[in-house]
Amino acid sequence: MATDPGVTVRSGRPDDLAQVTRHYGPLGDTPWDPFADERRLAAVPLEGLLIAEKDGNYAGFLYWFEGRKPWFDKGADQYARLEELHVRPEFQGWGIAQRLVDRFLQDVTERRIPLLYVATDETNQAAAHLYERVGFHPFLRTIHYRKYA
Ligand SMILES: CC(C)(COP(=O)(O)OP(=O)(O)OC[C@H]1O[C@@H](n2cnc3c(N)ncnc32)[C@H](O)[C@@H]1OP(=O)(O)O)[C@@H](O)C(=O)NCCC(=O)NCCS
Repeated sequence: MATDPGVTVRSGRPDDLAQVTRHYGPLGDTPWDPFADERRLAAVPLEGLLIAEKDGNYAGFLYWFEGRKPWFDKGADQYARLEELHVRPEFQGWGIAQRLVDRFLQDVTERRIPLLYVATDETNQAAAHLYERVGFHPFLRTIHYRKYA
């Protein structure tokens, strides 16, 4: 995909949090999801927040964090997890997620973090395509159970 010169990616700042939570929306994965509430997000370390802009307008964000000894991968130690990746619908398909992921890969390489994780639903073809194209491989499947009570 061609690089759009109008797209920039930069580190997040405290004054980005309102945009990020507005974009993410109030319905988080859990009642305590930090991305769904500006005050909760303000309590999260900002080092892994990346903001994409298109011609100076907010277009999307990526959030990653560094961890040790992930419970879901026995024997692994230092790692980074790409936790959130969202591009505003009107800016999708222009390579903005790709630019955010490229910057994430650059940041973790600079920090010499040897192992990276990301998870997405098997129905999310856009995300799966992007992650696999930059070198991620599926290694663990999670089953979502459902029961009507
Ligand atoms: C997934 C998402 C971040 C992609 O953002 P985007 O800026 O539109 O993605 P890009 O334009 O950078 O495209 C990245 C790659 O995905 C491909 N792609 C984009 N939409 C696609 C789709 N619907 N189906 C298959 N591939 C798709 C692009 O073609 C591109 O690959 P290519 O360079 O090989 O052609 C965006 O759709 C989004 O925010 N979705 C809602 C939130 C979400 O699902 N986040 C991921 C959760 S893990």
